[in-house]
Amino acid sequence: MSLWTKESDQWETSVQFLPASNSKALEKRGPGRKITLIILVVVFLAIIALITGLLVWHLRYRNRVKVRKVYSGSMRITNEEFQDYYEDPSSPQFRNLATEVLNQVFPSPPACPHLERQSFSYHCQSGQVITLQSPGFPDSPYHANSYTEWLLRADPNHRIKVEFDTFSLENDCGKDFVRVYDSLVALDKQLMAEKCGVYPPSEPLSFISSGNVMLLTMVTNEDKNFPGFRAQVSQIPSQIPGCGGALTGNSGSFATPNFPSYYPPLINCTWSIQVPDGKYVKVQFKKFLMSEPGQSYSTCKKDFVQIGSTKLCGEKSPSTVVSVQSNKMDVLFSSDMSYVDRGFSAEFEAFEPTDPCPGTFQCKNNMCVDSNLRCDGWNDCGDYSDEMNCKCTNAQIKCKNGLCKPNFWQCDSVDDCGDNTDEENCACRNPEDFTCQNGNCVSQRKKCDGQNDCGDSSDEISCSRGAKLSVVPCTEVSYKCKNTQCINKENPECDGVKDCEDGSDEANCECGTRPYKSSRIVGGQAAVEGEWPWQVSLHIKGSGHVCGASVIDERWLVTAAHCVQDSGQTKYSQPQVWEAYLGLHIQGKMGEDTQKRSLKRIIAHPYYNDYTYDNDIALMELDSAVTLGHSVWPICLPAETHNFPVGENVWITGWGATREGGSGASILQKAEVRTINQTVCNDLMSGQITSRMICAGVLTGGVDACQGDSGGPLSAPGAQGRLFLAGVVSWGDGCARRNKPGIYTRVTKFRSWIKEKTGV
Ligand code: ARG
Repeated sequence: MSLWTKESDQWETSVQFLPASNSKALEKRGPGRKITLIILVVVFLAIIALITGLLVWHLRYRNRVKVRKVYSGSMRITNEEFQDYYEDPSSPQFRNLATEVLNQVFPSPPACPHLERQSFSYHCQSGQVITLQSPGFPDSPYHANSYTEWLLRADPNHRIKVEFDTFSLENDCGKDFVRVYDSLVALDKQLMAEKCGVYPPSEPLSFISSGNVMLLTMVTNEDKNFPGFRAQVSQIPSQIPGCGGALTGNSGSFATPNFPSYYPPLINCTWSIQVPDGKYVKVQFKKFLMSEPGQSYSTCKKDFVQIGSTKLCGEKSPSTVVSVQSNKMDVLFSSDMSYVDRGFSAEFEAFEPTDPCPGTFQCKNNMCVDSNLRCDGWNDCGDYSDEMNCKCTNAQIKCKNGLCKPNFWQCDSVDDCGDNTDEENCACRNPEDFTCQNGNCVSQRKKCDGQNDCGDSSDEISCSRGAKLSVVPCTEVSYKCKNTQCINKENPECDGVKDCEDGSDEANCECGTRPYKSSRIVGGQAAVEGEWPWQVSLHIKGSGHVCGASVIDERWLVTAAHCVQDSGQTKYSQPQVWEAYLGLHIQGKMGEDTQKRSLKRIIAHPYYNDYTYDNDIALMELDSAVTLGHSVWPICLPAETHNFPVGENVWITGWGATREGGSGASILQKAEVRTINQTVCNDLMSGQITSRMICAGVLTGGVDACQGDSGGPLSAPGAQGRLFLAGVVSWGDGCARRNKPGIYTRVTKFRSWIKEKTGV
C-alpha cells in the first residue's frame, strides 16, 4: 500500500487518504491498545537506536582500540620520602617537588627574564659534515642570557662525532658553558662533558657518542661574551678503530679510541699483548686521564683500566708502570655512561725476567730511570724510590726523612725536604733575612705583610696596626706607587688588591695571564700552543731563528743586548735585518694566529758589556702594533722592588738547542727550573755574577736554556696566576751542565729604563 499512486509520468493530482475503515478500527480499539502501541513503537525505536549506536561504536571506535599503543613511564625520586600531600597535584608541596624534578631533568636554562632560547635539529648523512656554531660566530660574540641546543641524530649503527675547531668561552663554567650529552634530552646521568674557557687549536676537543644521538647545549649568563665555538658534526660507523686488539712483538704502543681527544661513553676495549716466550711484559702509561667530577678513585667504579687484579682510574703520572710475570697481558678499558675523559696512551715492552731495567735503576713503581739520577735530590721515579736509602754526599744535607738535598737549598725559604729539615735552624747569614722565632729565615720583606711566612707567625708580630697597607718611608724593599707614596707590601702589583691610594699598583694589569686553558695532555718539554703567548721568535731575514724575545705590549719587545750586537757581516744592531714572529708555535709554520712584524727601532742597553754580559738587555719597537689575544699577550713587568724568592719554580722557553752543541727545536720548548741564591751562584760561576743577573737552573744538570734561547723570557709566577718577566736568557757555561746554572738578566734592575724608553 502506498499513499501515492503513480499512474503516469505526472503526479496524481488527487490524493487518496487511508481508507476510513482504518481510522474506524483505531477508534474502535480504544485507549488501552493505543498505549500498548506507543510502548511498542518506543521499544522499537530504542532497539534501532541501540543497534545504530553499537554499529557506530563498532565501526568507528572499536577498531581503534586494536591499534592504540599506550606508553607509560615512571620516575622514582630517591631522595624524598612519600608524603600524603604528594598525591594531591594541587598541593603546594606537590608543585614544589614537580618544579624541582623538572629543573633536574631539564636543568638549563635558568629562569632568566630575558632568556633567549634557540633549538636546532640535525640528522647526519654518511659522507656529510655539518658545521655547527654558536649564534653570532665568528662575526660577533655570543649573546648574553641565552640557551641554545643542538639535537643531533645519525643513521642506525652509527655514532656521532663532534669536533670543535674553535672553542672560546668565558673561563668560568658557572657562567657560560657547553654541555655534551649522550642522549637527546639533557639527562645528568648521560652528561659526557661540560666545557668552558678557551682551547688552543693544538688541543683537539672532540666527542663521540655511544649510540646514534647526541645533544649539545650552550648556556650563557649576563656578563662577558666570548667568540663562542664552531664544530664539525659527522656520523661514523659504530665500530670505531683503536678499541682493543692483539699486540705482539718486543714493544709497541696503544691508546684509547679517539686519543688524545675524548673516548666515547659505554665502551669496553681489550688489548691482548703477547711478547716472545720467556720474557715478561710491562706497560707504561705515558698519559692517563680518566677522571670524573666528584669521584674518589680508591675503587674505580666508573671509567677504569684493568690489568689482572690491578685497576687504574683518575689521573696518573707518566711514571705509571704495570708489569706481569708472564709473556702475556690483557689490558681492559671500560667507560661508563656519564663523563668521558681523554683516556690513555701506553707503551708495552718485553723485559728479561732477571733484569727488568738493564743498565738503569729500577724504581719501586717498576719504572726504569737513569742510574745517575739516584740520590740527586730530585724525585725522578715519581714515587721517591730513587731518593730512598741514600748516603748523602758533602754537597748535600740530610733531611730527617732520609732524603738528601743539595746544600744550596738549605735556608732558602722553600721546604725541599718535605719535612722542613732544610729550613730549620737557619742562622740567617743573609743580612736581608729575618730570623723567625722558630729559627726559620724569611726575607725581611715578608715581615708584617699580613702572611704567616715563618710558620709560627713571628714575622707578623710587633707590626703596627694596619701595617699591611700603611704608607711607609720609601726603602729599597718598599713598593713605590705612582703618587710617590711607598707601601710595605711585598709584590703588590696586579695582585687584585688595590694597595696604593691612587690604585697605581693595579693599573696596567692586562698581562701575564694565559688565555688558553692549561692542558693536561701535551706534557714533556714541548709547550702547548698558546701557553707562552709573550714568547717571540726573532729571525734574521733569510737565515731564520736567532734569538727569543718577550712581548711587553702591542708595540714593544724585550730581548738580550747580546742578540743585537753586530758581528762579522751581519748587522744585528740594525732593525731592518730582523723580523719578529709573535704567536708562533712551530718554526717555519705560520699559524692562523701568528703575527709577523718588522722592526722600527732597537735600543740596546747603553751599559751592556760584551765581555761580562752585564746589562744584557735590549728593547725592540715593532713597525706596527700587533693584535693582542689568545696567542699574543704581554708578560707582566715586575716593579723594581719585586722579590723573586730563591728556590722558586720558574719557566724558561724557547726554540734553542735541545742539548749543548745541538740544533734548535722546531716546536717551542719549555722547562721548569728554580731560581738560585745569588751568592751560591756567584761561587759556582767563579765570581762572574753581578747584581744585574739572576741565576736559575737545575744544578744536577740536564735542564737549562741553550744557544738560541737568548733574549727569551724567564717567566716567574706572581699573584693571581700571572707570570712576571723575572729574567732574559743571557749566558751560561755550556748548557745544562752539572752545577752550572743558566744566567739571566735581572729585569727588576731595568724597570725604570724600560719605562723611560717605551712608556710601558
Ligand atoms: N747566549 C746564548 C744564546 O745566544 C744563550 C745561553 C744560555 N745558556 C745557558 N746555559 N743558559 O742563545
